[in-house]
Amino acid sequence: MTATLSETATLTKIDIRNVTKDFEVRDTGGAFTALRGVSLDVREGEFLTLVGPSGCGKSTLLDLVAGLTGPTAGEITIDGTPITGPGLDRGIVFQQYALFPWRTALANVVFGLEAKGVPRREREGRAREYLGLVGLTGFEERYPHELSGGMRQRVAIARSLAFDPDVLLMDEPFAALDAQTRESLQEELLGIWGKTGKTVIFITHGIDEAVYLGQRVAVMTSRPGRIKEVVDVSFDSREGDLRADPRFGEYRHHIWTLLRDEVAAAVVQERKVAVPRG
Ligand SMILES: Nc1ncnc2c1ncn2[C@@H]1O[C@H](COP(=O)(O)OP(=O)(O)OP(=O)(O)O)[C@@H](O)[C@H]1O
Ligand SMILES: [Mg+2]
Repeated sequence: MTATLSETATLTKIDIRNVTKDFEVRDTGGAFTALRGVSLDVREGEFLTLVGPSGCGKSTLLDLVAGLTGPTAGEITIDGTPITGPGLDRGIVFQQYALFPWRTALANVVFGLEAKGVPRREREGRAREYLGLVGLTGFEERYPHELSGGMRQRVAIARSLAFDPDVLLMDEPFAALDAQTRESLQEELLGIWGKTGKTVIFITHGIDEAVYLGQRVAVMTSRPGRIKEVVDVSFDSREGDLRADPRFGEYRHHIWTLLRDEVAAAVVQERKVAVPRG
């Protein structure tokens, strides 16, 4: 098959090459392999969703891209440069709202701008702008405990967007939200992504969410995680209710099948671990 122009023109933003991650097991002193030989290229400006059985190493992989930990083997580069630690080119949104409880919503967003070195007089205006972008105008002076879970997650998203990273790393950011809030945040996130052209890696347990948001869906195997398949998701048009498109159901079913096999494998593995010897 010949590559189309748009395919040849896509640039790799993040290159994950043959990455293995072992954790030391404290009590035995042995090694526990969370990821083994993961390779994945994330393209400039794409929205990639990542799914896989619980414990397969999704968060571990995101932490590696964030530079919070280093790989045991293999390499990850961003714009061709190896990742050696966290950087302001990457914004992270964790599953748990990692806000400072003693800071207001506005002050939480300002925090990211301080780190980036934005001049003091510009910080507040920019923070207000991003809170507005996630629909929180009027809530600037609230403290996290005065906000709902969905609002807190919006603050976390505004904070990670405000310092304008090239890459957004999102670890199940909407998992704890009710269905309506989740859907409205999905819409907002897609809108922001469309406007800003950021590269997004988004972890989710929801197959619907993965198909709805992702241009590609990377499916991981059970632990030690590898990339099982990367599914290209494309619709003729994103107008109307995407979830009602017959292709939505086809993608969903395909990914569901891939995951079902992996979850079954993971259950067998757990049993092996659980059964006492002798
Ligand atoms: N710091 C650590 N030390 C030891 N083991 C770890 C550490 N972090 C993660 N692990 C182990 O690595 C494996 C992968 O964990 P990880 O959190 O990446 O999975 P996950 O795919 O994100 O799971 P979930 O979908 O439940 O969030 C798990 O078995 C976990 O116990
Ligand atoms: Mg996780």
